[in-house]
Amino acid sequence: MRYSDIDFNHKAILITGGAGFIGSNLAFYFQENYPTCKVVVFDIFRSEATFSNGNLKSFGHFKNLIGFKGEVISGDINDEEALKKLATYQFDYIFHEAAISDTTVLDQGIMVKTNVNAFKSILELAKENNTVVVYASSAATYGNAASPQRVGQEQPQNVYGFSKLSMDNLAREFCLQNPHMHVIGLRYFNVYGPREYFKNTTASMVLQLGLQLLSGKTPRLFYGSDKIVRDFIYIDDVVQANIKAAVSGKNGVYNVGTGKPRSFQDIADILQKELGTNLGTAYFTNPYSAYQMHTEADISFTCKDLEYEPKISLEEGIKAYVPEIKRIYESEMNRG
Ligand SMILES: NC(=O)c1ccc[n+]([C@@H]2O[C@H](COP(=O)([O-])OP(=O)(O)OC[C@H]3O[C@@H](n4cnc5c(N)ncnc54)[C@H](O)[C@@H]3O)[C@@H](O)[C@H]2O)c1
Repeated sequence: MRYSDIDFNHKAILITGGAGFIGSNLAFYFQENYPTCKVVVFDIFRSEATFSNGNLKSFGHFKNLIGFKGEVISGDINDEEALKKLATYQFDYIFHEAAISDTTVLDQGIMVKTNVNAFKSILELAKENNTVVVYASSAATYGNAASPQRVGQEQPQNVYGFSKLSMDNLAREFCLQNPHMHVIGLRYFNVYGPREYFKNTTASMVLQLGLQLLSGKTPRLFYGSDKIVRDFIYIDDVVQANIKAAVSGKNGVYNVGTGKPRSFQDIADILQKELGTNLGTAYFTNPYSAYQMHTEADISFTCKDLEYEPKISLEEGIKAYVPEIKRIYESEMNRG
């Protein structure tokens, strides 16, 4: 399904972080809808290296790109020389998804270097060819800000959220200095859907609870999980937002959610219905003293300026995703 009348055939498109969850979905969107567009994926992929929290330093995985026919480059966005070499491709669009996406990483220097400082090099690359840039910001910029979360009311609570807000500041300054450029930041809320499995424990609760249920385990949730809500957004609507941002001719930062927050209990219940299980819920005490109880994207400007229209409800998204969750359970789990 195409989200825009603009023809991307014959366009050159760079997707950083294209071996990850959102980047690989974008790569397939272009391949499937615009067979003659040139899509280049740039990603550091994964190694065994871990951060101090024990999680992998990067989650990119070749399996997210099986079937992708474009060019794949293994590289680090922190490597300025590698980015400079990309100028010869004369990209029309850059979708910048590469980042330390793990919100629990505590290593501040590498977080700021990778998410913020490397973004400046991406903007410099874009400047050479007047390339449109759509980059991934995050709802984590809002921290504990009151709902609905609105651009301008940021209160990041961790270095990840701080790094994404710093990207937004950098983009705003860049656009002031270069008014002919188009740079759009998308603040994704809680994204779920195919190709997130290799994010391991940082994958969505939809996938994690789905896999628990398939292995016969009762889903474990905090007490009061019917009142703990998030703005869960299906990957197809995130791809839609990226495409609409790319052709919008706008600058600025926009929320990408549904505007309809749903509870963790809803996820468990919808999954049980779709999987045909009746395992109840095992509740336990929330160990966190400070915990965000409610996220809800104010998407009014995203709808107005980008013509973005979230189409997929939590029920529809989980229904569409369940066959893939079953496939993962049967063929991927414990195989590395
Ligand atoms: N998934 C969500 O719910 C969500 C929410 C808000 C924001 N985001 C942001 O969206 C973007 C994509 O997230 P995702 O969920 O696809 O995560 P992901 O971890 O699957 O994708 C990020 C990709 O970036 C690559 N990468 C990491 N460091 C790199 C480096 N130094 N050089 C080159 N590549 C590098 C990884 O290998 C990975 O493939 C990220 O910027 C993330 O912060 C995601």
